[in-house]
Amino acid sequence: MSTKVVLVTGGTGYVGSHTVVSLLEAGYEVVIVDNLSNSSHDVVARIESISQRAVTFYQLDLCDAAALQTVFDQHQFHAVLHFAGLKSVAESVQVPMEYYRNNVVGSIQLLSCIEQHAVPYLIFSSSATVYGAQAIPPYSEELPFGEPTSPYGATKQAVERLIHAQCARTSTATTLAAVSLRYFNPIGAHPSGLLGELAAEQPNNLLPIMLNVATGHQPELAVYGDQYATPDGTCRRDYVHVMDVAAGHVKALSYLECPTIHKTENVRAIDPYCHQQDQHLHRSQYHIFNLGTGSPRSVLELVRHAEQIINISIPFTIKAARTGDLAEFWADTHKAQAQLNWHPQYDIVEMITDAWRWHAVQYPPNTD
Ligand code: WQD
Repeated sequence: MSTKVVLVTGGTGYVGSHTVVSLLEAGYEVVIVDNLSNSSHDVVARIESISQRAVTFYQLDLCDAAALQTVFDQHQFHAVLHFAGLKSVAESVQVPMEYYRNNVVGSIQLLSCIEQHAVPYLIFSSSATVYGAQAIPPYSEELPFGEPTSPYGATKQAVERLIHAQCARTSTATTLAAVSLRYFNPIGAHPSGLLGELAAEQPNNLLPIMLNVATGHQPELAVYGDQYATPDGTCRRDYVHVMDVAAGHVKALSYLECPTIHKTENVRAIDPYCHQQDQHLHRSQYHIFNLGTGSPRSVLELVRHAEQIINISIPFTIKAARTGDLAEFWADTHKAQAQLNWHPQYDIVEMITDAWRWHAVQYPPNTD
């Protein structure tokens, strides 16, 4: 049987690079396209070192239609895993047009190539942010979209809807089968210490900032608000190890490859977007899964865990709540566990331990 070639967009990024390692270890051949806007080319060599497998890399932007077409002309892709996109909530408020161009127009270019080349499977890197501010945790996949809390969240909703619409088309000879994976808060790093979350420029996310404080690259942690209706007053999030998230993608691809799922199903049970006129859609080609642990932890809990694990104090100051932050949310994980047979393997200690191994080497303590 010929090796299955998978295209990974954004494959040198944080979640993308860890997923490429998992795909290689599962026996797939991987082609990466990335514009390196939020990653570096040396990640390719790190991936090859971990997996002892070669990876094909093209530096390109998905909005460069000609360059993307050339890649599809040169490979017959078994599947596409789509990570490429801008992902800062705060930045998206400042430059919404850049986020729509990059995240939505880029996805349209990609879907066009997928259709032209009859690629059968697509997995999309989505986010819990699509549930919006009104959803009540634990978030279930059957919840409808909520009002997006940022242009970033709106682009994730737009691309999910577009992919669903492409899968629902019965007019094309080959139907696309797709999965949107809604990440909660991925943290951690590959246990080798060779891959991890970038923290050089001002990171947005909590753990890399905390570890920058621990290594002296930032003076202290600003805790955005301690008056929320949570046990200790600080926000709670569902942190999930990036290797578990990577494994979720391999499970989702196996799920799409399995012919038995494409039998008549109650579309509404799978797909909350299913409207009355879609009831004729007996083959459910579009699926959504949460990737989280279902166990929320607060900011201060994470600080305490980190201080115990790295044995370094992390000074913090309580600041005003960050605009757009929700008090708490976490995943209902039943669907991914039941239908993907996906079960998070790493606990919070391993998440922080693995993140620290990467961070302490990449950003050695500031001794001056
Ligand atoms: C976590 C908690 C902050 C920094 C976002 C996106 C989500 C996903 C992950 C892409 C919050 C608090 C943070 C700091 C703090 N992105 N915090 N001080 O906002 O839950 O999710 O990143 O996939 O789609 O929405 O993650 O790590 O920014 O914040 O107190 O210096 O830590 O208020 O409660 P968030 P985060």
